[in-house]
This record gives sequence, C-alpha cells and structure tokens, in this order.
Amino acid sequence: MKILVTGAAGFIGSELSLRLAKEGHDVTGVDCFTPYYDVSLKRDRVKRLAAYENFRMHEVKVEDEAAMTAAFQDSAPDIVVHLAAQAGVRYSLDHPREYISSNIVGSFNVIELARQHNIRHLVLASTSSAYGANQKFPFEETDAAPHPLTIYAATKLSSELIAHSHSHLYGTPTTLLRFFSVYGPWGRPDMAFFLFTDRIFKGQPIDVYNHGDLMRDFTYVDDLVEAIRRLMDKPPVKGEPVTRNDSLSPVAPYRLVNIGHNEPVRLMDYIEAIETSIGRTAVKNMLDMQPGDVKQTYADVSLLKALTGYVPTTDVRDGIQSFVDWYRDYYKPD
Ligand SMILES: NC(=O)c1ccc[n+]([C@@H]2O[C@H](COP(=O)([O-])OP(=O)(O)OC[C@H]3O[C@@H](n4cnc5c(N)ncnc54)[C@H](O)[C@@H]3O)[C@@H](O)[C@H]2O)c1
Repeated sequence: MKILVTGAAGFIGSELSLRLAKEGHDVTGVDCFTPYYDVSLKRDRVKRLAAYENFRMHEVKVEDEAAMTAAFQDSAPDIVVHLAAQAGVRYSLDHPREYISSNIVGSFNVIELARQHNIRHLVLASTSSAYGANQKFPFEETDAAPHPLTIYAATKLSSELIAHSHSHLYGTPTTLLRFFSVYGPWGRPDMAFFLFTDRIFKGQPIDVYNHGDLMRDFTYVDDLVEAIRRLMDKPPVKGEPVTRNDSLSPVAPYRLVNIGHNEPVRLMDYIEAIETSIGRTAVKNMLDMQPGDVKQTYADVSLLKALTGYVPTTDVRDGIQSFVDWYRDYYKPD
C-alpha cells in the first residue's frame, strides 16, 4: 500500500512509519521538525528510517498548501495517517496561535487533499483531552464532548468536526483516533514520564501537580501502534455500525475510536514505577493543579476491541522499564 504519514519525525509518527516500512509499504513521511522540543531527537528518530528504500521524507509544514499538494502527488496515497500537530496541553496556554495554525489550518489541508486524492481511508489523531470537563468515566466515543479546557483540545475537536463535514459531503472514509497519554522509548521530552526520568537521573526535583492526586490512562507506544495499524484496515462504512454503541456517524463514513489502556494509574504509582526502574527516589515538589489540566482520564476501549479484536495490554511497570532502558542507552546518564 501507499501510505502518507504526517508527523513522521514525531514520537508516534516515527514508530508507525518504522512499522509500515518494515511491512514493505511505500511510505511518505511529512514533518517540518518544529523546535517545540529537541530537534536532534526528531532527526535521530528519522535516521532509523533511512535504511528503508520504501520510505521518503518531505520536510514541509502541513499548513503550506503548495508543499502539501506536492507531497500528496509524490505519494499518491491509499491511506493517510495524520499525526502532525502542535501537541502539549500546557504549552497551549502561552502559544495558542501555533495550535490554530498546525492543528486547524494544517489539518484542513490534509483533509482537503485526502478528498481530492479519493483515498481509501483517512486516519487522524485526536486526543483524550477532547473529553474536556466530562465527569462520566470511562470516556466513551458516543459521549458528547462540548467542554474543551484548553486551546489544544479545542483545536483537536475543531479538526474532528471539519473532518466530519468533509466525510459527509465527499464520502471520505475517516477515523478519528483519541489517544490517551502515550509513553515509551523515543518518547516526547515535554511529557511527564520523560521529564520525571530526566530529572531523577540528574538529581533534580520533579514537579508533582495537584499534590499527586491525578489519574491517567497510560498507553504504551507499541500497543498504540498495533491498534493504529489494525484500524487502518478498517475504514468506516456509512450505515454499517459494528456495535450497539458504535460512534459511526449516521450521515457519513466517519467514526471516533479511543486508544487507551482502560486502566487508569495513580500519578504517585507511576512515579514509583519510574523510581524503581531507575533505582533512585525522586525529590518531589508538591504543587497545586495546573490550569487546563483534568484530574482523570479513562478510556472505554470496547469499540477498539470490536473493530480490531485488540486492546492495549502492556503493564505500566514493564512499559516504564523499557522507556528507562532506552533513556539509559540513548543519553548515557550514569
Ligand atoms: N503522545 C501522546 O500522549 C498523545 C496523546 C494524545 C494525542 N496525541 C496526538 O498524536 C499525534 C502525535 O503526537 P506525538 O506524541 O507523536 O507528538 P510529537 O510532537 O512527537 O509529533 C508531532 C510531529 O509533528 C510535527 N509537526 C508539528 N507541527 C507541524 C506542522 N505544522 N507541519 C508539519 N509537521 C509538524 C512535529 O515536528 C513532530 O515531529 C499528535 O496529533 C498529538 O496531538 C498524542
């Protein structure tokens, strides 16, 4: 298959591209290597792909319509997986425009070009943050989600809506994936699991928000990639729901799917797993809740299971151990 992956230098995009390249697909990656976090880590992720002749990279911004048109022409994709985004909940408080540009304008370009190319399946990354202030747990894809708490969440919800209208008007089979706190080797330096590990190795204190009273449904990256890979082969068909609570749109070949572990972990237990893996105890700065944060995330994954027969299974202690092993090998901190 010919597959276009945006955000191919990112944490998830590079892992997915590697998986697809190994399977022998013709993969075109798109990424502009934003300086949001260490660009050399992004370059190193992509270096792993250089060995594959069936992978090529376009270093462009998704909001650059002409460059994206060329990337689509070069790829002539059957499937598009759109992962490029300005990510991060906390950064969005101070840098809202970057989210509007990448996540709304950029996503519109991808959605519009996917329509023009009449692709088989458009797969777009969304987020558990889309559930915003919802208090019904676990989060189900059919729950209304009208109360985003940050610009990040609002831009992701906006691109979900734009994709729906295009899917309705033009019939593009479209799946929106709501990811839940993804962690693992080659991960993102702005996320808690990475920051905690980094600071513990350096003997620096870690910031623990809401005095540790937070719960997250953490998803190991290999499990996430497996779920995405299976869902790529399941384009929605209008009028053909697979379960009673399928999020399939009544008017379009469009559905939302959660990808989470369905097992929220207390933040303090997560920190303990990192401390155990490193063999050191963290000095903890106990702080109040951050603006825009939610207390708990919890994914219902019954739709993912019905569609793919698969749900994430990696235990958080094993996933953290793999991450810490990678960190040791990559940064050589000891
Ligand atoms: N990692 C998580 O826990 C998580 C959770 C929920 C949703 N998501 C979503 O999953 C997707 C991938 O996330 P990730 O964790 O791999 O993040 P990431 O930041 O590592 O990857 C995103 C990539 O997109 C690129 N990018 C950003 N803006 C761009 C633009 N305008 N044009 C071209 N490239 C651009 C960046 O350079 C980066 O390499 C994102 O859409 C994110 O919002 C991630």
